[in-house]
Amino acid sequence: MELKHAKQLKGTISIPGDKSISHRAIMFGAISEGTTEITNFLQGADCLSTISCFQKMGISIENTNDHVIVHGKGLHGLTAPTELLDVGNSGTTTRLISGILAGQSFSSTLNGDASIQKRPMKRILAPLSSMGADVKSVKSNDCAPLSFSPAKLHGISYESPVASAQVKSCILLAGLYADAPTSVTEPVLSRNHTELMLSAFGAKITSENTTASILPEPKLHGLSIEVPGDISSAAYFIAAGLLVPDSEILIRNVGINPTRDGILKAAYAMGGQIEKLNERTVSGELVCDLLVTYSHLKGTTIGGELIPTLIDEIPMIAVVAAFAEGTTIIKDAAELKVKESNRIDTVTENLKRMGADVTPTEDGMIIHGNRDSLHEADFESYLDHRIAMSFAVAALALPENCHMKDTECVNISYPTFYKDLTGLID
Ligand code: S3P
Repeated sequence: MELKHAKQLKGTISIPGDKSISHRAIMFGAISEGTTEITNFLQGADCLSTISCFQKMGISIENTNDHVIVHGKGLHGLTAPTELLDVGNSGTTTRLISGILAGQSFSSTLNGDASIQKRPMKRILAPLSSMGADVKSVKSNDCAPLSFSPAKLHGISYESPVASAQVKSCILLAGLYADAPTSVTEPVLSRNHTELMLSAFGAKITSENTTASILPEPKLHGLSIEVPGDISSAAYFIAAGLLVPDSEILIRNVGINPTRDGILKAAYAMGGQIEKLNERTVSGELVCDLLVTYSHLKGTTIGGELIPTLIDEIPMIAVVAAFAEGTTIIKDAAELKVKESNRIDTVTENLKRMGADVTPTEDGMIIHGNRDSLHEADFESYLDHRIAMSFAVAALALPENCHMKDTECVNISYPTFYKDLTGLID
């Protein structure tokens, strides 16, 4: 596919629903009593995998455009699937649904695509096993496929070695089925959508610092949920507006939960002009519109507690850093290696293709920005949606059109991405 260069970007864009929140709305709706109505649901392939898994366990889910109705059957209302649960490319589906499957009175097996079969699952297998779950990695390699058999679950206090909302959510969901309270402590706070949304569904859940705790067997009840726009998808338009000269983009309906807004903090630290407008709360989540203006950017250091709040945006931030003046250091981000691709490697490869000065490290990368040294390139997507979108934005700001293979992977989280992006070219 040809990736367009742009002289200027102008216009308004509404961001599709948040991926993390869309997954959770389906899952929590399915195990609640009554109807859950979801608007602005993300129709990305990952969230459709979650819908299909719950349909295979007897949950009726109506999906029309961005409107989804889940007919929940309560904590113990799922039925045994007659076939494999296919999670596709979705790490969130895999890890969160595992917490639910571990507590069921039936057996099940899940599997996904080639990327999912390489992603580390020990991080959920270990805590689930210590809760008493009967869960196995079918190939004994701590990866999917995973099989679950009925078992009695016990409450645990778990110290997670990784700051991961997927791990935290998996354990909290298993905690719903346990015989005593369960708590998870993370080294650094990860996104807290599970805590906010499960509480709205009626769970007894509390958070203190980096510990979240849940009581077993609440009565969960269906809700109406409006999904805020995904800040991880907005990140591409934030970057595009900052990088392409003379641009001004109004990005409507962006979720700015403080456990997700690291992209804004990083952009401000680099000198980006982004105005927050019309701040409001939607279904318990903070939302605003963002007015982004082309800016002269400088390098920064990104690490520590900021990392979980922008982990999925690091490929885009790395591209921005290549155009900025001075050095950007990204550290404490070894988790990048176990995403849909090894994003330390895949970002480095593509940055080098466009002439950037980048050195990969064990837990991130160092980028010496210099806009004048950058040139057009043939990029690879590595079948990773966030790599494909980040380098499509890079192309806008490079001197000539670029090319990329395997670009349809954007369907995972943002099916209308190319249409929305090229719609802003003036
Ligand atoms: C997600 C958590 C993050 C993120 C992923 C979505 C979630 O993963 O990278 O895209 O919805 O909980 P980790 O929990 O592995 O950090």
